Amino acid sequence: MTTENLINSIYFEKVTQQHQETIFSWLAEPHMQEFWDNSQEHKEDIITFINGRVAPSNYFNGIFTYWVGMIDNDPFCFILTAEVDKNEDHPKIWLDNISKTGTTYSIDFGIGNIKYLGKGLASPTLKMFAKFFQEQIDSSADTFFIDPAEHNPRAKHVYEQAGFKMLGDFKMDIGVFKGEQTHLMVKKLPKRIAYD
Ligand SMILES: CC(C)(COP(=O)(O)OP(=O)(O)OC[C@H]1O[C@@H](n2cnc3c(N)ncnc32)[C@H](O)[C@@H]1OP(=O)(O)O)[C@@H](O)C(=O)NCCC(=O)NCCS
Repeated sequence: MTTENLINSIYFEKVTQQHQETIFSWLAEPHMQEFWDNSQEHKEDIITFINGRVAPSNYFNGIFTYWVGMIDNDPFCFILTAEVDKNEDHPKIWLDNISKTGTTYSIDFGIGNIKYLGKGLASPTLKMFAKFFQEQIDSSADTFFIDPAEHNPRAKHVYEQAGFKMLGDFKMDIGVFKGEQTHLMVKKLPKRIAYD
């Protein structure tokens, strides 16, 4: 399939039981482990999410929604979203840049399936995800944060291609990457006008 054909067949689903094994196998991949949390707590939170978040979670207070990107019926990328609430504890640079016109979400992104790595899919996928999210999940979403580690220039590059702009740096204050210097990047979408 050409890259264009691959891109045209991308869609997104919330993570369900049927994706669990695939996602856990991605989290065990060296290219993911370099930049992605592979802790037991993260895996338990994914299971808690799959089970409908009826149980509480200590992992970032259970804020994450987990998504999988599909190409045809083949899962290829893993995406986390969380609403950024101005009343919660965030680094100053996050609070200073929260949307004043709509809702802000943070995104974490990784291509777990090595078959689809290095094929130019990262930036089109992120563009499509932001659009999908605003059109189908939350029409008030107009601001997306993404926060690549300073030592992940490949991620920074593809995020720029996807329309994320650099806001500045902060030190990760929580989680397994605590203390790491991290960029904060933002993508803005025009406010959506609902016709229905
Ligand atoms: C980061 C990631 C999403 C990028 O996806 P990918 O399939 O590897 O990248 P793509 O093929 O879409 O594009 C790579 C681009 O980065 C560029 N690139 C590669 N290494 C680079 C580097 N060290 N510095 C700057 N740019 C780099 C490539 O030249 C290419 O740019 P181009 O399209 O202008 O030629 C993917 O590698 C990944 O998921 N990695 C593991 C998890 C991860 O790092 N997630 C991000 C956490 S913030």
